[in-house]
Amino acid sequence: MITDHISQIRAEAVLAIQQINSAAQAEAFRVQFLGKKSRLTGLFSFLKNVLPADKAVAGAEINTLKVWLQGSADELQVRFGAAAETASFFDSTLPGIIPPSGSTHLLTQTIEEVVSIFERMGFDIAEGPEVENTFHNFTALNVPEDHPARDPKDTFYTDQGNLLRTQTSTVQIRYMQSHKPPFRMIAPGRVYRPDTVDASHSFMFHQIEGLLVNSKVNFSELKGVLHLFLRELFGDKVKMRFRPHFFPFTEPSVEVDIEWKNKGWLEVLGAGLVDPNVFQAVGYDPQAVKGFAFGMGVERLAMLRHGIPDIRLFYENDLRFLRQFK
Ligand code: DAH
Repeated sequence: MITDHISQIRAEAVLAIQQINSAAQAEAFRVQFLGKKSRLTGLFSFLKNVLPADKAVAGAEINTLKVWLQGSADELQVRFGAAAETASFFDSTLPGIIPPSGSTHLLTQTIEEVVSIFERMGFDIAEGPEVENTFHNFTALNVPEDHPARDPKDTFYTDQGNLLRTQTSTVQIRYMQSHKPPFRMIAPGRVYRPDTVDASHSFMFHQIEGLLVNSKVNFSELKGVLHLFLRELFGDKVKMRFRPHFFPFTEPSVEVDIEWKNKGWLEVLGAGLVDPNVFQAVGYDPQAVKGFAFGMGVERLAMLRHGIPDIRLFYENDLRFLRQFK
């Protein structure tokens, strides 16, 4: 019976497979069991003599044997390395290699987020130099000659009598010197102060300054813009309050606090209506224009939002910290 032949060949092949341990033997197995002179080929010619009624069944059985032998021969070839010469083996089921990707720093992300909120309210983005002079950093901002902020204990001076800007309010002055109202602008950038470094102080940090100038501007417009901004950044549930304060360049001046996630009142901004002396310093007519201004610390905002306990984490570039804000 043809089925006896088939099971005999299969049994012999199983035995043969167990003996194989080289590429040459794997190749010999293929020739012996699948080659032109193999008993498998003999079985196919034998099929001619089978009665027509049994042909289909017998043919299917021989075919199954052939497929099994071919699979075994292929497997041996892969196992003993001959595959490398004939066909390369590619396992499409293995997971791919994902290349590592970088991301922007949390401070950059925070600046971009704040700036984009104001951009949507029609504010232009402005920039100014980090090395400034006393006029733009102090005098034009109505800071008196004897103000303690001008002391070298609070400001880095260069040998030439310039300074590293201590606030981005300098960009207000530069922008007004080169633009005519009405306008609204936002200016992010680095600022420097000779503070002793600790968990909440750094000699360099980031601020974002805002300024709007028009023929008529009032305090409730300032309040409306800042409330909208804070709701965008901290969510609709954020509460805001204005607390009277003093800045030389604004009158009246306020500090802006928020209450958010039951954390009590936290200061996030300084703001006010532009002091007429500032308009005078840049050549505007203080009778004809009004404006509001505000400034905020970027590190402070990011620390509040993400519960970051130490400002130094921003500058140490420890990937374990940075990767949390991808
Ligand atoms: N320049 C201030 C600071 O460094 C922040 C600030 C407060 C800016 C009030 C403003 C403002 O424009 O109106 O603390």
